[in-house]
Amino acid sequence: MAEELFIAESSDRETRYAELLPQLQALTSGEPNLIANLANVCAAIRQTFGFFWVGFYLVDGEELVLGPFQGDIACTRIARGKGVCGAAWQQAEVQLVADVDAFPGHIACSSASRSEVVIPIINNGEVLGVLDIDSDEVDDFSAIDVHGLEPICDWLGKLMQAGASRPQAGKANKFKT
Ligand code: SME
Repeated sequence: MAEELFIAESSDRETRYAELLPQLQALTSGEPNLIANLANVCAAIRQTFGFFWVGFYLVDGEELVLGPFQGDIACTRIARGKGVCGAAWQQAEVQLVADVDAFPGHIACSSASRSEVVIPIINNGEVLGVLDIDSDEVDDFSAIDVHGLEPICDWLGKLMQAGASRPQAGKANKFKT
């Protein structure tokens, strides 16, 4: 297992996303515990880009529940359709929010958050969770981030589905009951 990231700080964001995905896959290969893998994935994203907050919310019944994250403490439960994360779940679509103050119903876990991108994690048409990234700069995200993050979330969807259905992976990996 690789435990170091090799990504040049001088590279642009697009290049860093391209370099990051295979390293995430190497970092998690051979480890069946989904919580451990999601924890390292959000740490690696934050380490690579220095974003203010990076984390997962996982579908649990009619709510999203806070999963592994890097950053300040955050709200633990979000109802379907509420906030940026709940909208990404309900619509099963990426939410790119240039100014969080302009998003109706935005849930302000931190007043320092200025812009946000939320990518749904989907497997077989079902949203299993979302990847939420916050920046302390207005308009910090663009299509480059979406195009970089979508393949990561596609891969995570497969990983989460595999974790949920693999009996030996243990209870901590079961997000669906
Ligand atoms: N802002 C999010 C809530 C989660 S925090 O940003 C970590 C939202 O509106 O759903």
